[in-house]
Amino acid sequence: MAVAIKTKTPDEIERMRRAGHIVAAALEALRAQVRPGITTQELDAVADEVIRSMGGTPSFKGYRGYPASICASINEEIVHGIPGPRQLQEGDVISLDVGAIYEGYQGDAAITVAAGKVSSQVQRLMEATQAALAAGINAARDGGRLGDVSYAIEAAAQSAGFQVIREYGGHGIGQHMHEQPMIPNWGHPGRGYRLKAGMTLAIEPMLVLGSPVTQVRPDGWTVVTADRSVSAHFEHTIAITEDGAEILTKPSAI
Ligand code: MF3
Ligand code: CO
Repeated sequence: MAVAIKTKTPDEIERMRRAGHIVAAALEALRAQVRPGITTQELDAVADEVIRSMGGTPSFKGYRGYPASICASINEEIVHGIPGPRQLQEGDVISLDVGAIYEGYQGDAAITVAAGKVSSQVQRLMEATQAALAAGINAARDGGRLGDVSYAIEAAAQSAGFQVIREYGGHGIGQHMHEQPMIPNWGHPGRGYRLKAGMTLAIEPMLVLGSPVTQVRPDGWTVVTADRSVSAHFEHTIAITEDGAEILTKPSAI
């Protein structure tokens, strides 16, 4: 624990709130568009337009050579699916991950959405992933430890009967999309970095119906389950305050 995590000033958090608002608006626009027949590149265009029309810049485009403004990961694709001509089919689930920069500060969030009707198992997986995210956010407290967050996510997943992906996780966020610390979706309470008001984190559990073993497709980006079982992914950017966590990527229509 040699390296301290930088906390943000209220002014920096205000910019992140604006970036987060843009990300949330893009995700809500995407949610409204998800249906059988739409392609992932059409969804990418929708998000790109919303982000730019609100004065933001898509953070993913060009990041380490990433070619699009969103990640669109269908069914067994866990994260980092590249948008393209594939059409959604009835019963697919799609994880949509969006990042935006506003005045130099970043927001990052993801939702998983069903195209048409999905099986009750898949529905349960999506609900459990969202609940695991909520548990992680609730555990992100001033004076607590990073391991409290990791453990809360893992425990929520397990209590619903699902496993978390272990090789990918959340991260600090601010002027860069990925800052310290790495936030595993599994761990031990009471361990790890001390959490402080002013820290800004992207928390992002990924849960699977089957085995959590992963592979990366030959495109170099798309992470899939080795057993091709369905995965779900939810993410929010939060700021730790003296009084719990503030979600910076919350949809404004509550
Ligand atoms: N939300 C993703 C993450 O935290 C970002 C997508 S990676 C990109 O890793 F390369 F596509 F930008
Ligand atoms: Co992220």
